[in-house]
Amino acid sequence: MLASLITFLLFSSSNLVVAKDSCNSFADYPAEFSSSFQQPVPPNVNNEYQASWVQHKWNTNVSHITAGFLYNSPAAGKVRVDEAYEMTIASAIFDYTNVSSDGLVSNILYSYSPTIASKPTIFSDYVNSNFPLFTKDVLKVNGAVYTGLTTRDKIGKVSSWSIMYQNAIPVTVFLDGCNTIVGYDYFSPGLRTRVVTEYFNIQVGPVSDEVFKLPS
Ligand SMILES: *[C@@H]1O[C@H](CO)[C@@H](O)[C@H](O)[C@H]1NC(C)=O
Ligand SMILES: *[C@@H]1O[C@H](CO)[C@@H](O)[C@H](O)[C@H]1NC(C)=O
Repeated sequence: MLASLITFLLFSSSNLVVAKDSCNSFADYPAEFSSSFQQPVPPNVNNEYQASWVQHKWNTNVSHITAGFLYNSPAAGKVRVDEAYEMTIASAIFDYTNVSSDGLVSNILYSYSPTIASKPTIFSDYVNSNFPLFTKDVLKVNGAVYTGLTTRDKIGKVSSWSIMYQNAIPVTVFLDGCNTIVGYDYFSPGLRTRVVTEYFNIQVGPVSDEVFKLPS
């Protein structure tokens, strides 16, 4: 009887841990300025997903606002980003399995302007990608600092985590209660550029390979 009770307790408490790891209500996250504050261990994130997104990038010379749909596939090592802005419809694939010696990522971009009846403009080169391929352990391997709970307009309550992406760019990553990335903000010191990216309508799960096919 005692043994089975212990088994039950062990079993149910481990179930509890699984449930808490996958989704939480942030009740366990410490309040800033409390005497019991201890920085939480950065969680693994859900990184296999598709989502709608909006992004605003600006500096003294540029203000670029765009929106679209994206696919993040660590299985394929690729991110596909579809976007629409000012008479342009474009689709970009970032291939993280093809990285230059200086760390730039292979990018193929098709854009159609002013209509889809136009011949596509095709760009293909290594670039500094605005759309990182997040790994499950991106927060852990980058030694993320917990930067508190906050709210995002489209998602509600989120936890926030700060990292130095590639040891060069300060990025704040936002997670919903299921540890799915729902956006990230960064400041790029080189050109003094601020970039805000928000995801919504997020579907976590494997991305079909079909998504990454290019015209032959
Ligand atoms: C790697 O990326 C470069 C730049 O986009 C491209 O020219 C090259 O064809 C790619 N190589 C492979 C094997 O995909
Ligand atoms: C903005 O444009 C000016 C003039 O072309 C240039 O000198 C300056 O470096 C640019 N600044 C940024 C942050 O790109």
